[in-house]
Amino acid sequence: MLITGVRLFSYRSYDELRFDPQPKLNVIVGANAAGKTNILEAIYLCAVGRSFRTRRDQDLINMAAAGAYVGIDLENKTGRRKIEFKFRRDGKQVLIDGQPVRRIGELMGVLNAVLFSPEDLSLVKDSPEERRRFMDMELCQLRPAFFYRLQQYNAALKQRGALLRAGLETGLAPDPGMLDMWDDQLTELGGDIMLIRREFMDELSTLARDINRRITGGREELFAFYKPNVAFPDGDRGDVRTALNAALYNSRQEDMRRGFTTRGPHRDDIGILLDGHDVRTFGSQGQQRTAALSMKLSELALMRSEKGEAPVLLLDDVLSELDGDRQRELLSSAFDCQCFLTATSPDGLEEVPNMTVFECANGKLARV
Ligand SMILES: Nc1ncnc2c1ncn2[C@@H]1O[C@H](COP(=O)(O)OP(=O)(O)O)[C@@H](O)[C@H]1O
Ligand SMILES: [Mg+2]
Repeated sequence: MLITGVRLFSYRSYDELRFDPQPKLNVIVGANAAGKTNILEAIYLCAVGRSFRTRRDQDLINMAAAGAYVGIDLENKTGRRKIEFKFRRDGKQVLIDGQPVRRIGELMGVLNAVLFSPEDLSLVKDSPEERRRFMDMELCQLRPAFFYRLQQYNAALKQRGALLRAGLETGLAPDPGMLDMWDDQLTELGGDIMLIRREFMDELSTLARDINRRITGGREELFAFYKPNVAFPDGDRGDVRTALNAALYNSRQEDMRRGFTTRGPHRDDIGILLDGHDVRTFGSQGQQRTAALSMKLSELALMRSEKGEAPVLLLDDVLSELDGDRQRELLSSAFDCQCFLTATSPDGLEEVPNMTVFECANGKLARV
């Protein structure tokens, strides 16, 4: 996977940016607020269809402009491709190879990217929401079907929630037939989500264990596993659905009292053990960061093997957060990737081969 051109117009702090990256390591250096992360955000947007920093497309448009443009030229296994986003104050348009897409899901898999930001280093400590996002961002790129299921599940969840809240506000219990209908939809969609997440975590777990062994010199044994909110047997699709449907049904009284859906894959989590103990509560900060790095690098490895080509790696300000050994581990894992790395200075990168440094200042990017 190779990005050959990045074009931004009125995107975030940029008026106009033309950036032709190099095939290996692209280091973007600049002061705080110079606009470094804005570039990685635009690239990741083209991989997953939305910003990792905001849910509101409006935030992406330069404050002084009426619209914004992001264009990425790339080469993947299938050949040359072009992804474009056109944002206006009243909506957006996405184009692939010049053709408008009907559904944003069509974008998934055209550009594969793995993003690593300082927030990822606290993956272990963060809330379950962050860990679900860790699974979902990769799964959406690898399996468009997962993306559609998740989108539909969230829409159904919203509807069920509205029904429960209306019940609370009016004091009238929601129509059981309506609840049945939403439960059936959530069961069908949620069951698939749970199966796909479990399969993903099973594969990821082995990779993460091996990587963590390598980083710690074999001293620590990492075990990462899927923690579904609704437990289900090792069975087929029918078993998962039975379990989820029963959980939804059995929690109805509580859901009506609280005004939201208390059970289901929207409350899933990942468990991470180190030598059999929960890293979250027992690990030192160093162990937690190493575990997070291992998890992230295993995502990179999984994406590489599933897609048969290396994804683009986006490293936003993470190097300064890691010690020397971890830095080397991270950079050596990126040996065959095109990589975009932001930092406030190029210190510590002197020995890295195939590096090109760009300086980001005053809304421009210049090769150093
Ligand atoms: N919609 C916008 N319009 C204009 N400027 C913006 C917009 N969104 C963010 N910015 C500016 O972008 C800058 C932050 O860019 P960022 O890429 O996060 O910097 P850094 O180099 O620290 O990563 C800030 O100065 C912020 O004010
Ligand atoms: Mg930044």
